[in-house]
This record gives sequence, structure tokens and C-alpha cells, in this order.
Amino acid sequence: MKILKKITVGLLLVFIALQFYRPQKNISNGDHTKVFVEETNPSTEVLAILKTSCYDCHSNNTIYPWYNQVAPVSFWLSDHIKDGKKHLNFSDWENYTKQKKDHKLEEIIEEVQEGGMPLREYTWTHKEADLSEQQTKQIVDWATKTRLLYQLGNQPN
Ligand code: HEC
Repeated sequence: MKILKKITVGLLLVFIALQFYRPQKNISNGDHTKVFVEETNPSTEVLAILKTSCYDCHSNNTIYPWYNQVAPVSFWLSDHIKDGKKHLNFSDWENYTKQKKDHKLEEIIEEVQEGGMPLREYTWTHKEADLSEQQTKQIVDWATKTRLLYQLGNQPN
């Protein structure tokens, strides 16, 4: 019993100490996806879907849930965002080549069609991010059309 109490107190202290470490937040003010929006020209609806369902992990601005205040959740989220942005970052669109943009749009189509994105862990707590069939179709149509524009060379870069 005594040893159990010591372990509990020890763990509690570690948990408290951990709260002093905060990973840097992914926050950006202003129009951080301007180039992406201008070039790919999503409809108001498609843009709203991307903002609600994808921007938190694939742009330079995350809207954090309250529980991000608590370590180790904050570290876990921070890792997810870093990883997500490494694969696809709408705020970094201007630095992608035309081929890369085309390829990313292709991956977007695959991911939403297969139900791989948004990540399941995310939709557990963000019900509004879950894509309906109709929304999936809207994303696929927009991405397919935009891929053609890049392939035809009608876009800069
Ligand atoms: C909770 C964070 C999160 C959300 C929300 C999210 N993603 Fe991702 N996404 C990731 C992570 C992490 C990866 C990289 C690891 C992986 O592929 O699972 C990724 C990878 C990707 C990739 C690259 C796949 C590849 O083959 O390299 C695409 C494309 C993508 N996401 C599209 C989307 C789209 C579109 C949405 C919105 C409908 C979305 N994601 C929402 C976290 C997220």
C-alpha cells in the first residue's frame, strides 16, 4: 500500500511538472492561405469544408480545443500538426511546384474518397469535420478540376 501511494504521488508530480512545458502553438494571423485560395479557387462551400475539416492540421493556423491546455495532449496534438503540415500545408502552397500541387490534389482526392482524412481521432472530437457523401463529392470535383488546370499549365509555377 505504501509503495502504491508513493508511485501515485510520484506520477502526480510528473504530471504537474509536465504542465510547465508547452509546445509552441501553430498560430498565424492574417491571410495565410491566400495563394492557395487564389490559385485553386474553391467555391465558398468547398473552402468552408477545408477550413472546418483540414486546416487545423494542414495550415499554419490551428484552432485549439480547450484540452490542448493539458499535457501530454498538447504534445500529442503538436506532433500531429507537424506531421500533417509536412505532408500537406495549404499555407505553404506558393512554395510547391506545379507537379507537387497536382500530386497533392491527387492525394486529397484519394484520402477523402477512402475516408482516410480527416483523421478518425479528430472527428471523434470534431463531429462537424466529418465529411458527408455530398461534401466528399464537392472536394473531389473541385480537386479534379483544379488538377486539370495545373496539368494544362493554366496556373503560375
Ligand atoms: C487531426 C489532424 C488532421 C486533419 C484534421 C486532417 N489531416 Fe490530413 N494528415 C494528417 C497527418 C498526421 C498526415 C500524415 C500522416 C498520414 O498520412 O496519416 C496527413 C496526411 C494527409 C495527406 C497526405 C497523404 C500522403 O499520402 O502523403 C493528405 C492529402 C491529407 N492529409 C489531406 C487531408 C484533407 C483533405 C483533410 C480534410 C478533409 C485532412 N487531411 C485533415 C493530419 C490531419
